[in-house]
Amino acid sequence: MNEVLKALRKKHNFERSAVEIYSAQIRAFPEREIADRLKAAMANEQEHVNDLRARIGELEGDCSRLGVFFQSAGKVLGFTTTLLGKVFLLRTDISIEKRAVKGYGELLQKVDFDEKSRSLVQKNLEDEKVHIKRWEESIEILKGRQ
Ligand SMILES: [Fe+2]
Ligand SMILES: [Fe+2]
Repeated sequence: MNEVLKALRKKHNFERSAVEIYSAQIRAFPEREIADRLKAAMANEQEHVNDLRARIGELEGDCSRLGVFFQSAGKVLGFTTTLLGKVFLLRTDISIEKRAVKGYGELLQKVDFDEKSRSLVQKNLEDEKVHIKRWEESIEILKGRQ
């Protein structure tokens, strides 16, 4: 398999777990501003999943069979964080997103992407940076309420 497809498949798996993590976390927040941010991030992660899947299809690849595993892992991780306190949950999300930014950045350096795949990876990377900002804001919102 070529390196572009391999990279896109890997990110497709991670994005699938991101959707499940946020989906499981929404119910932990009666604070509407934060729940809304989580819903928006979940929808955005779903876009990442769909865009990656579409690009993999255009390159005539198929998605990894491990996808279901990543989905379940995301569910478990998301649920577990809801037991550990809201600030802890948000800090975990920040570290997950930082890893995503780093992972996308490394791929951009290493992999010889075609233009369309490269701009998809770049767009996702920028979105993950926005998620980091959202969780930092959310921690401030929670602190303001104590
Ligand atoms: Fe994402
Ligand atoms: Fe994200």
